[in-house]
Amino acid sequence: MTRTIWDSSLGKKTVMAVSGIVMLLYLVAHMIGNLKIFFGPEEINHYAHWLRTMGGPVLHYEWALWLVRIVLVVAVVAHATSAYQLSRRDIRARPSKYVHKKPSASYATRTMRWGGIILGLFIVWHILDLTTGTVHPGGYEHLHPYQNIIDTFSTWYGNVIYIVAVVALGFHVQHGFWSAAQTLGVGSRSRDRVLKTVGTALAVLLTLGFVAVPVGVMTGLVS
Ligand code: HEM
Repeated sequence: MTRTIWDSSLGKKTVMAVSGIVMLLYLVAHMIGNLKIFFGPEEINHYAHWLRTMGGPVLHYEWALWLVRIVLVVAVVAHATSAYQLSRRDIRARPSKYVHKKPSASYATRTMRWGGIILGLFIVWHILDLTTGTVHPGGYEHLHPYQNIIDTFSTWYGNVIYIVAVVALGFHVQHGFWSAAQTLGVGSRSRDRVLKTVGTALAVLLTLGFVAVPVGVMTGLVS
């Protein structure tokens, strides 16, 4: 029974919708947290410290952070696996044996696929840049996100990578939010406009909130 649900297209879409919402909630919190950079180094560096001590004294140092990390890894893997399996199914279902030219995927499907790939690559780069410091330009300092962020956005490629990713995220959320609503049965004809507006509003909010940081560094507002 469980296996049948998991194997069904609806099961996979449900996994995508739920994991997508989990990541979306994280991103709203992350975007708001990042804006602390506009209040100065103490504020955002203190926030980085709090991320490690939250849940204390019940929880040990970094336990809550690791819990969040585990939930996010599970969400990313579940989301990507279901997306891949659904897209294979989609390709197999096409009547390509009978026509020479394969019918091309819709604009929304292509945007979601490419957006997903860009975001997957970005997350790896981003962790190597601002969490482990492996590809970070300049001397990476643990628990000093203020200076680390300034270093990242003092390079042209840092700005390009982050801005491209954040714009891709906007498109992904805009369509993904609406898709998730359909899968979870929230969508209906009368609610279609409201859901599309909420999806677009969330996408614009996230994109602008994230983009504000590199723009702040580039304009010298954050220095
Ligand atoms: C301008 C945009 C962004 C900035 C300035 C930024 C900044 C940061 C910083 C400073 C950290 C490390 C926090 C710490 O360890 O104290 C971090 C972690 C993280 N960011 Fe971002 N971020 C941005 C966009 C994004 C986006 C678009 C995503 C996802 C699509 C993302 C996903 C993550 C994740 C998953 C972590 C956690 C890594 C860990 O476990 O430590 N970030 N970000």
